[in-house]
Amino acid sequence: MQSSKTRCLGILTAGGDSPGLNAVVRAITKVAMNEFDMRVLGIQDGFRGLVENRIVTLDDATVSGVLTRGGTILGTSRDKPHSMPMGGKLLDMTDAAAHNARRHQMDCLVCLGGGGTAKNAYRLWQKAGINVMTLPKTIDNDVFGTDVSFGFDTAVSIATEAIDRLHTTATSHHRLIVCEVMGHRAGWLALHSGIAGGADVILIPELPYDLEKIAEFLLERRRNGKRFSIIAVAEGAMSQREAAEAAARKKDKDKDKDKEKEKEKDKDKERKKAKDQGRAEKPEQPMEPASEGEAVDACRADLPVNVQRLHDETMAYHVVQEPMASRLARHLQALTGVEARVTSLGHVQRGGIPTAFDRTLSTMMGARAAELLAEGTYNVMVAYRNGRCVPVPLQDVVGQRKLVPVDHHLIHCARQVGTCFGD
Ligand code: F6P
Repeated sequence: MQSSKTRCLGILTAGGDSPGLNAVVRAITKVAMNEFDMRVLGIQDGFRGLVENRIVTLDDATVSGVLTRGGTILGTSRDKPHSMPMGGKLLDMTDAAAHNARRHQMDCLVCLGGGGTAKNAYRLWQKAGINVMTLPKTIDNDVFGTDVSFGFDTAVSIATEAIDRLHTTATSHHRLIVCEVMGHRAGWLALHSGIAGGADVILIPELPYDLEKIAEFLLERRRNGKRFSIIAVAEGAMSQREAAEAAARKKDKDKDKDKEKEKEKDKDKERKKAKDQGRAEKPEQPMEPASEGEAVDACRADLPVNVQRLHDETMAYHVVQEPMASRLARHLQALTGVEARVTSLGHVQRGGIPTAFDRTLSTMMGARAAELLAEGTYNVMVAYRNGRCVPVPLQDVVGQRKLVPVDHHLIHCARQVGTCFGD
C-alpha cells in the first residue's frame, strides 16, 4: 500500500449521462482503495445527492462488472448547488453541500461531468472551500483544455453507424436525408460522424450555412448522377441569418451578465464587511422561481424571428417550434424539388456500451485521478493531452468551451473529399 494525502473522497456524476462514466468510477475506486487505502464514497444523482446527503460507500463489489455498462450507476442530475429547486423554490444550497462533504470527511469531491459541472465544482471550491477535482465527460467533446472527453468516441460510432444505415433508404428512394446529431453548441460530433459516415453535407454551428448554397450543391450532385444525399447536421447548426441574430442577442445577454457579476461582487464585499464587524449575516432570500409567463418570455429571445412574431401576434405562451432538422429538410425539399426526410438521433447517441477507446480513456483518467488525489493535487481537471492524463488548474478551463476551429484540419480534409459545409 502506498502513502496518500487523501484519506477519503466522494465521487459524483452530473449533467447528461455518457458512456464511460461507470468505467471512470470503477477505475478511481479500485486504484484509490487498493493502491492507496482511501475510503471512497459515491454520491447519488449529482450535486442533488450531496445536498440531500444521499451518499453510499463504494467498494470492489459495487464497481464490479460496470466497465462495459452505459449510463451511471450513481445516477445523475443537472442540479446546481447554488440554484437548486427545493420545495417549489430555487434555493442556494451551497452550504448544505459543503456541510455534507465535511460531515463525511471528504478530502476531495471528484466530479465527473462537462463544462457546467466544472463550473459548479469550481464554485463549490471558491465559495465553500471544498477541494474538488473534475474529469471531462461529454459526448459533445466541448470541454476546454482536454484533447478529448470520454463518451465522445462512443457517440461518434453510434452516429456513424446511423449515417451508414441511412444510406440504404437514401440511395433506394433517391432522397435527401437530414440526420440531426447532438453536440450542443459544438460541431465535433457532426464533423467526426459526418466524415466517417460519408455525409455529403455537414453543417456545424461554427460554420453558419447558406441554404441556397447547400441546395445548389445538392442539385449539382444530381446533375452528376448522384440521386441521393445525406446531410449530417449538428443540433446547434444555424443559418447565417440566425447566427447574426444570435450574436446580437448574446451581446445583450453578456451586458446583463456583467451587471449581475458586479452585483454579486458588491454582495460578497458586504458579507465580508458584516463578518469583519461581527454583524450577523442576513440569510439570503430564497430566489422565487420565475412565473410561467416570465420563463416563457425568457425563452422567447431564443426563438427564430418568425416564431417570435407568431408569439407576439397571438400573445400565446405555448408556441411550438418546428424542430431545426425538419425545417432544414422542408426548405431543402422546396429549393431542390427532391423528396426529403429527417432522422433525429437524440439520446440513442448516449446509450449502450462504451467503445474500447472510451473504456481505455476512462480507465486511464480514473487511475490518474486516484494518483493525483494521493499526491494531494486538488482543484484541477484531469485532462487528456498528447496521449497522457495530466492535471490542469480548474481556473484555466472553467467558463470556456472548446469549439471546432474553422481552420481545423478535419474541415480541410472533408472539403478535399468534396463535402459541402454550406458556407
Ligand atoms: O451534453 C450532452 C447532450 O447530450 C447534448 O448533446 C444535448 O444538447 C443535451 O445533452 C441534451 O440534454 P438532455 O438529456 O437533458 O435532453
